[in-house]
Amino acid sequence: MWKPAQRIKFHPATGRVPTREEAARSRLFSRLRAGPLHLQQRTWVPAMVPWRSNEEGEATVDVLQWYERFARGRPGALVIEATGIRDVPSGPLLRISHDRYVDGLSALVDTIRRASDGHTQVFIQIIDFLNIRRRPEAEKYFQRFLRVTPRHRALLGAADWSEDAVRAHLAGLPPAAQQAILDAREWEALQFGARERVTDTDLPHIRELPQTLPGLFSTAAARARAAGFDGVELHYAHAYTMASFLSATNTRDDGYGGERANRVRLPLEVYAAVRQAVGRDFVVGCRYLAEECIDGGNQVDDAAWFGVEFARAGMDFISTSRGGKFDDAKQPGIGSSAYPYTGRSGYECMPQYLSDEFGPFGRNIAPTATIRRAIHAAGFTTPVVCTGGVHNFDMAEAMLVREECDIVGTARQSLADPDWALKTSLGLGREVRLCEYTNYCEGLDQKHKQVTCQLWDRSELEEPAVRLASDGKRRLVAPPWSAATADLPAVAPSATQA
Ligand SMILES: Cc1cc2nc3c(=O)[nH]c(=O)nc-3n(C[C@H](O)[C@H](O)[C@H](O)COP(=O)(O)O)c2cc1C
Ligand code: SF4
Repeated sequence: MWKPAQRIKFHPATGRVPTREEAARSRLFSRLRAGPLHLQQRTWVPAMVPWRSNEEGEATVDVLQWYERFARGRPGALVIEATGIRDVPSGPLLRISHDRYVDGLSALVDTIRRASDGHTQVFIQIIDFLNIRRRPEAEKYFQRFLRVTPRHRALLGAADWSEDAVRAHLAGLPPAAQQAILDAREWEALQFGARERVTDTDLPHIRELPQTLPGLFSTAAARARAAGFDGVELHYAHAYTMASFLSATNTRDDGYGGERANRVRLPLEVYAAVRQAVGRDFVVGCRYLAEECIDGGNQVDDAAWFGVEFARAGMDFISTSRGGKFDDAKQPGIGSSAYPYTGRSGYECMPQYLSDEFGPFGRNIAPTATIRRAIHAAGFTTPVVCTGGVHNFDMAEAMLVREECDIVGTARQSLADPDWALKTSLGLGREVRLCEYTNYCEGLDQKHKQVTCQLWDRSELEEPAVRLASDGKRRLVAPPWSAATADLPAVAPSATQA
């Protein structure tokens, strides 16, 4: 992963540990009710793909156990990982793309409800993504993938050569000469693997995305409702289709690109179709980027404008992330795919402990606060979730007290210690296992290996009930916390309207 040149080391700290009474009076452990969003506390576990599903995209035993462990920590909300809405093979990505998935997902919801004793609202993040190929061997690219065009022939002076001769000649050229003949997309396909973009409107399936996506998202959302989820999170963030529609780099000329109002059109149409399918009493929100963190990408003023439109349309929450784009991803090895968290924008999405002067903690707070202010200035109170480097009570509470957000997301801190908020609420904050922001977990994610945390994946491996990763060396879920069942309050102690 890309790292800032400064490489300053940052160490997370537990901070001030509140007593149980102080925690009970805090904003973090206060309720939030806004439409169908009913959180018993303002802690939120954002979507994290742990690669626990199978090639069929099913909610396997490992998927159930993974989320059961988070649910034992009783967060206000738990968002299930990015889940595919197209019924096509997607590797071990969880899917909600057909009615046959409903029973398995229903078992997942039941598992979470039982484990959290009904304290946690359960949402599922639904995603669409475009096709991306692995980086090819150069030989194979020229032999099989490159479409030979009159432009190549003209540049080579090869008007009457056979196609095989053009391919063989190109394959034998040094890279600089190849680059001079190939256009930018062909060169990218050779160097990185071909990647579709929403602007490829010469391809019928890309041109027709505005016609196909509302239906795909809304039927997936209806399945989520049938499975018993409390709501869906529309994935409008990072490197995926909907984020690409919102992006300042979207130049489609069919009314779905260019100006902000056009770029937000499909995200709003998808939302409207989803709302129509699930009704008003089911939570529908989205996750999108407070900043794209790429050259020519959306800035916070774009995101604030979109946030107001999402609020105006009636979304029940807005959750922010940042970066995570293909545009600045590192070149993958031959046979691997580009990964959108390897460049500077990837660092902004999941910053690690080697950082610049600002450090890895709270990089998304100021832009998220700007978005929230814009939403309020427009007369809406849609709850805003802010995530990124949050790892202790003080930090989370300050974000809420300063009204920078309404709900605090903790991804890696929840992975490091799924009980961190529960321990804190009980006055046992000293027992929290702090995330070290090394990104060991993110490295596993990048290789599509079962994600675990280095702070716990080697402990008590010999216990008979412990399920191990396919490498046989790591446990798949965090060890249980022995005090987890002791003296838990039945409901969160105070009630506050959002
Ligand atoms: C292993 C892993 C998988 C992730 N998968 C997703 C995902 O499916 N959807 C998503 O919106 N973000 C995903 N993220 C990003 C997190 O939700 C979060 O935005 C990011 O880790 C920064 O928050 P943190 O500092 O609290 O970890 C993932 C992060 C990690 C570490
Ligand atoms: S492996 Fe664990 S400690 Fe390291 S960044 Fe991931 S969650 Fe944090």
